[in-house]
Amino acid sequence: MKIIHTIAELRETLHKFKRPAFVPTMGNLHEGHLALIAQAKGLGDVTVASIFVNRLQFLPHEDFDTYPRTLELDCGKLKAAGCDVLFAPSEKELYPEPQTFKVHPPAELADILEGHFRPGFFVGVCTVVMKLLTCVQPRVALFGQKDYQQLMILRRMVKQFALPIEVVAGATQRAQDGLALSSRNGYLSTPERTEAVQLSLALNTMAAALKAGTRDIAALEQQAMDSLTGRGWKPDYLTVRRRFDLQPPGPDDLTAANALVVLAAAKLGTTRLIDNLEI
Ligand code: PAJ
Repeated sequence: MKIIHTIAELRETLHKFKRPAFVPTMGNLHEGHLALIAQAKGLGDVTVASIFVNRLQFLPHEDFDTYPRTLELDCGKLKAAGCDVLFAPSEKELYPEPQTFKVHPPAELADILEGHFRPGFFVGVCTVVMKLLTCVQPRVALFGQKDYQQLMILRRMVKQFALPIEVVAGATQRAQDGLALSSRNGYLSTPERTEAVQLSLALNTMAAALKAGTRDIAALEQQAMDSLTGRGWKPDYLTVRRRFDLQPPGPDDLTAANALVVLAAAKLGTTRLIDNLEI
């Protein structure tokens, strides 16, 4: 695997390929990231990953400084997964001057859910992904369903800017107990790690109630919030939405096939976890 730190060398290396398949990450890689690499291998003629902890998508009080940076371990995992090229730029390389040109996603998609609780988050994500896409110039880009709203926003960005890139989703990879894999799981203490599964269990309970015909969405959401709060969590949201636009469902959506997704974000101790489940 070739490890590249500059945009110039990246372009030089990739120009001979017709169909790069690209997996952007912030590193501290786990099986969720590696499943995307495995999926990418079947979709292009060269598999490219990036590792860049993007300051623009962290709020001042968030974990930018402490976000785990494990480049050497990550390189070993990428190599074993069959990744061909790793682009790992320094901050100075990717943002040589303050990144004052930014990509602003529409409020109706980006200021709800994650964007409500993390204002500016999706501006940071869209800006860095746009920049990474212009560096790598892939034909295929892969993103995990674990970050459901991010995937939806990036899909729309690529479509609206008519970028010649196919966006492919990767299924959420979970630990044996059901906890969605995340770099932030490493922040959990042992008892917190045991408790953490309750987030996916809460989503499963909501999904089961919806499948059983529950129509009082507000009550269902409140019950889920109360249940996690009672266990010591601080939930931001547990909510039923339309897959299409992440807005609250109307009566027709509740009976349509494949129309809904339940999404959750909650803090356990100081660790903020997110998860979702399509119904
Ligand atoms: P990061 O959290 O490192 O995730 C990189 C990619 O891995 C994202 O597409 C994410 O959805 C996917 N991923 C994470 N956990 C997963 C899991 N358990 N199963 C499947 N896929 C999973 O998301 C980001 O980085 C950043 O916002 C980024 C897009 C790189 C922009 O900075």
